[in-house]
Formats: sequence, C-alpha cells, structure tokens
Amino acid sequence: ISNKTFTMIKPDAVKAGHLGAILHDIIQAGFKVTALKFTRLSPELAGKFYDIHRERPFYQDLVTFMSSGPILAAILEKDNAVEDFRKLIGATDPQKAEEGTIRRKYAASIQENAVHGSDSNENGQIEGSFFFSEFEKV
Ligand code: CMP
Repeated sequence: ISNKTFTMIKPDAVKAGHLGAILHDIIQAGFKVTALKFTRLSPELAGKFYDIHRERPFYQDLVTFMSSGPILAAILEKDNAVEDFRKLIGATDPQKAEEGTIRRKYAASIQENAVHGSDSNENGQIEGSFFFSEFEKV
C-alpha cells in the first residue's frame, strides 16, 4: 500500500475548468491512475470523509464547499506516492505553495485549494476505500 495515494480534484478546480490540466500534470509527474470516479459528495458524505476535522473551525464551510459541485476522485500509484504527491500539490495554502505546484497554479484559497492528497499511507488506504470498491481498483 505504500506505493499508493488518494486524491480528489475539488469542486473549485472542476468549476474553473482545470480538471484536464490537473490530471495531465499528475500523469506527467509519473503517477499511474488505478481507480477513477467523477462524482458528487452529499453534505453527509463530505462530513463523513472529513470527520477528522469535525472540531476545526473550518469544518462546516469545508463540508458545504466539498458538496457544492462535482469532484474527481482517484487512486494513484507511484513509488513513494504519498510524499511525492504532496510535493506535487504543494502547501495547503496556495500562497505558501511552491512555484510550479498544482495548488500554486490552480488554487484560489486555503479552503478552495483545488486538490486533496492523503497525508499518510494509512489514510490513503482508508480514503481510497471510502470511494472505491475492490472491483473498481484496476
Ligand atoms: P485537504 O488537504 O483536503 O484537507 C482538509 C481541507 O480543509 C483542506 O484541504 C482545505 O480544503 C481545508 N482547510 C484546511 N485548513 C483550512 C483553513 N485554515 N481554513 C479553511 N479551510 C481549511
């Protein structure tokens, strides 16, 4: 499992028309897509996905934002996937993200930050299984 991570292209990036460009950047960086789903989270499902942030002040806004439009969910495979993907997307706050990172290129704010990336192998596994059943993982 250490060679896999989970990502979502968030509603802000989909609305802004960046879906294709972001997917291109991800594949160009050497990640292989092993599961892919264009879908939309209900507020209930968004709340469940971000349950670890339930006590944070931004939780309610985050749930509203993440259920505001369609998202692209994917499982990605590459050596050192979790760490390398977090490098590729950059810091949570796009203003602090390095030049050339996905968030720096496509994100508008700390909340509407274009993409999600798992922060550990364990969470990558949990998050991937939240969206995909065994037969959807190639
Ligand atoms: P993500 O990496 O998906 O994990 C949690 C999300 O909460 C984060 O991206 C942002 O979309 C959002 N978030 C994190 N910190 C803040 C913050 N300080 N204010 C608003 N939203 C935040």
